[in-house]
Amino acid sequence: MALREVLKFPDKRLREVSTPIEKITDEIRELANDMAEVMYDEPGIGLAAPQVGQTIRLIVVDTEWTAEDAEQNPLVLVNPEIVEHSGRISWTEGCLSVPDFEADVSRASHVKLRASNLEGEDLEIDASELQAVCFQHEIDHLDGILFIDRISRLKRNLYTQRRKKQLRRELEEQSGN
Ligand code: NI
Repeated sequence: MALREVLKFPDKRLREVSTPIEKITDEIRELANDMAEVMYDEPGIGLAAPQVGQTIRLIVVDTEWTAEDAEQNPLVLVNPEIVEHSGRISWTEGCLSVPDFEADVSRASHVKLRASNLEGEDLEIDASELQAVCFQHEIDHLDGILFIDRISRLKRNLYTQRRKKQLRRELEEQSGN
């Protein structure tokens, strides 16, 4: 079966606020599975449900996995929330929904996250550095926020213009011009 398509900026669906999950159904388990597949295929270290067009509060994260070391251990988080944060860290971020762009983003360096897993059990995770950054980035997606919202207006505008040109070019190529 084909992988789910990742929505790309400036798709308006990425701007919606996702709704909490009240009941973990087979559809949600299947979605989490599909999201992990997409994440490893791209490859990426995190994916939020709205990136595949499902505006529910579900993220999949694996900050341990790299392309060289194929051990895959996806952390599926239902209704994740940051309940404590401290410190500051600047990290160069990218996003599967923001093609061909990376930028430094300043975020909390330590967070405490609460969520439940697919079995409905409560989880509490203390995260730092890359994992903390990743949690914050993915939870932002659930609130319709992209990492480019957290960089300077100048950098964002430059990217937005470049992206629009790229989309125009793709459209022209498709129409055979
Ligand atoms: Ni992202």
